[in-house]
Amino acid sequence: MDRTRLHHLLARESAEAERRNPRSKAAYDRAEHLFGRVPMTWMNKTAGAFPRYLDSARGARVTDVDGHEYIDFCLGDTGAMAGHSPEVVADAVRRRYAELGGATAMLPTEDAEWVGAELTRRFGLARWSFSLTATDANRWAIRLARAVTGRPKILVNSYCYHGSVDESLIVVGPDGRGTAREGNVGAPCDVTLTSRVAEFNDLAQLERELAHGDVAAVLMEPALTNIGIVLPEPGYLDGVRELTRRYGTLLINDETHTFSAGPGGCTAAWDLEPDLLTIGKAIGGGIPAGAYGLSAELADRLLGRADLDLVDMGGVGGTLAGNALSVAATRATLEHVLTDDAFARMAKLCERFEAGVRAGIEAHGLPWSVARLGARTEYRFTDPAPRTGTESAAAADAELEDFLHLYLANRGILLTPFHNMALMCPDTTEADVDSHTELFAAALTELAG
Ligand SMILES: Cc1ncc(COP(=O)(O)O)c(C=O)c1O
Repeated sequence: MDRTRLHHLLARESAEAERRNPRSKAAYDRAEHLFGRVPMTWMNKTAGAFPRYLDSARGARVTDVDGHEYIDFCLGDTGAMAGHSPEVVADAVRRRYAELGGATAMLPTEDAEWVGAELTRRFGLARWSFSLTATDANRWAIRLARAVTGRPKILVNSYCYHGSVDESLIVVGPDGRGTAREGNVGAPCDVTLTSRVAEFNDLAQLERELAHGDVAAVLMEPALTNIGIVLPEPGYLDGVRELTRRYGTLLINDETHTFSAGPGGCTAAWDLEPDLLTIGKAIGGGIPAGAYGLSAELADRLLGRADLDLVDMGGVGGTLAGNALSVAATRATLEHVLTDDAFARMAKLCERFEAGVRAGIEAHGLPWSVARLGARTEYRFTDPAPRTGTESAAAADAELEDFLHLYLANRGILLTPFHNMALMCPDTTEADVDSHTELFAAALTELAG
């Protein structure tokens, strides 16, 4: 990679973003009352000097306040995998909020049992409870796992992401031991007191850690999706299940992103048997919703424990969790939008997207790799594809990423700002995918000089 050329191209695209998006830039410059000028500090993670401001979004399209329309492959980093504001979800939300009223009345609605049954059909877990975010689903699943096993620690994979869950902010350090992930803000204690860590695809390391006998649960994605996509090697997930059973450790599958693999995520696609499963983001069609599922046996054990306060201030739950609006949106999304048929179409489109990226990489002889998980695909700046989170982290190239993101955004295509991830929704078309293929090839030609 010719860095001088890359710097020149990046400066050119940054200037173009300023020229194209004066209203977004002005709104950002004016935002004096927001911490970091944005509603949430991660919104500063954008290629260029300011974020584009949202005007409207529908299906696979986003329009910014400067009047530019984008083909959206970011899809809210999965929160909008159902497409933006699908009509049927908008109707369910309107009905629940405006017509019936009672978004948050602290009373159950019958939609919840429908959603529970559908989640059981899809993922296999027998009992379900709701949250508003995947982070909370993970937090509560962790608490339940600790309660039922009486063990203090949680094991995660190095460079995982499970939301802002304290226990998960640990990586394998250069000496092979667990250490705090760089940048962890205000950790409540040394993370090695609460957590253990193993590289994805490394069963020997996992066994070494589980053998201490103090791990309540392994919390993992069946494929890593937050440090590029790192796919499991043959036998790895079976090995994780076998070892967790052998050492009396529960297995929590976090399907928040791997839901892209199919209607029942990787758990159904690959016949996995977790003890607990967590999910969030896409299931609410853009309305905040999350859920965790547990086996009937585990649920019964927990409900039989008189010492656990599961109904008041015992640390599991939130006032707005499972509210009528969130559950109505989830029902509409699962019943009518993210259906089995929709997943089949999305995966096919994603295959086309992946093929386009691969063709671009091969045409320029670049040492990059591309991976796919159903409706989600991502390329990394390394070949062969990384097999662990640490290997994938080492392949990051922020400048190169920024250039590609800016180049595409300035020409009407959005990727997820955290990496080179593209996601398909039910409204994505072949023409959308082909537009990306063309622009990606053009960006690589510019890079080659
Ligand atoms: C696998 C996984 N789990 C959990 C979360 C947390 O989701 P949220 O921020 O909506 O709570 C994320 C967010 O990216 C995620 O990727």
